[in-house]
Amino acid sequence: MTIQNNFSLKKYNTFGIEAKAKQFVAVNSIDDLKTVLQEHQSKPKFILGGGSNMLLTKDIQALVIHIDLKGKKVLKEDDDFVWVESMAGENWHEFVLWTIDQNFGGLENMSLIPGNVGTTPVQNIGAYGTEIKDTFVSCDAMNIVTQEMKTFTKDECHFGYRESIFKHEAKDQFIITSVIFRLTKHNHKINISYGDITKELEKQNVITPTLKDVSNAVIAIRQSKLPDPKELGNSGSFFKNPIISKEQYEKAHALHPEMPYYVISDTEVKVPAGWLIERAGFKGKRFGDAGIHKNQALVLVNYGNATGQEILAVSKDIQATVLKEFGIAIEAEVNVI
Ligand code: EPU
Repeated sequence: MTIQNNFSLKKYNTFGIEAKAKQFVAVNSIDDLKTVLQEHQSKPKFILGGGSNMLLTKDIQALVIHIDLKGKKVLKEDDDFVWVESMAGENWHEFVLWTIDQNFGGLENMSLIPGNVGTTPVQNIGAYGTEIKDTFVSCDAMNIVTQEMKTFTKDECHFGYRESIFKHEAKDQFIITSVIFRLTKHNHKINISYGDITKELEKQNVITPTLKDVSNAVIAIRQSKLPDPKELGNSGSFFKNPIISKEQYEKAHALHPEMPYYVISDTEVKVPAGWLIERAGFKGKRFGDAGIHKNQALVLVNYGNATGQEILAVSKDIQATVLKEFGIAIEAEVNVI
């Protein structure tokens, strides 16, 4: 375990932003994590997972601890289900493929989401009609101050749309070290209700889809819409889809009758931010090296040497324009550092 000074984080954030960590250390065991936290108790610390959901707008004047804990295993099983545990530093997509290879069902709709397993509970990642809360059992986390381990059950995580306790009451207090999911061994609940998946499977002439077929369809859709961070820096959806009151929606809808929406409850609807941003004229636009992706307006991209500040400025311009044109506030999903 070596601590490096003035360390470039360019390779450690999927936006590919050049920013420096005052100090950097990668930990690959729980014991090392404990030691680092104990030995550097008084220093400011910054916990870094896969770097797939953050925008670095400045150098980090702290000890950056990169969670590189590896390992995945089957913990137990019964006739119908299997409990699998993954350490926090495993790459999410590789973990999903490993479950599918063993015919374990439940994660296939979330194929190809960038990032590591340990950060998936923080924002309850989701795609194509599935969220991790649907299969999540619990996660273990280390208290940053006391180094005590705590298990958070699903109920204790307070999951919501891109939300959890780790963004609120437990923020900056814990480091998630492993996550347990309960997956199906047979009678898989294949969920192809999301329009794009049905269309993709029809295109591939698949009639009775397997887990692998669903995963492949999701991969094909994502590759057609979302840029690969290895080729074009990005952080997935930069904004959340706004949830607004029915009254507010009706006002906006009267002016823009073609505005799509999804009913959330009797009183609330969700509007696709990608639609709002596209209609506000931003899709595919480029401002220096910062831009808005041509196939999915929710995704901001770094064409090479954009700074975090430049991308942040574009995001603020988008928020202000969408608010002015539609009266709807859109909130960043990505953590701005
Ligand atoms: N739309 C547009 N223009 C765009 C993008 C979207 O008009 O440029 C409209 C279309 O009407 C489309 C609707 O938005 O029918 C929904 O689009 P899409 O199916 O692409 O989904 P999304 O709501 O834009 C969300 C997630 C994605 C996830 C997809 C699929 C959020 C913030 N984003 O996007 O998650 O992959 O659904 O489930 O909820 C991520 O979080 O990084 C991410 C990519």
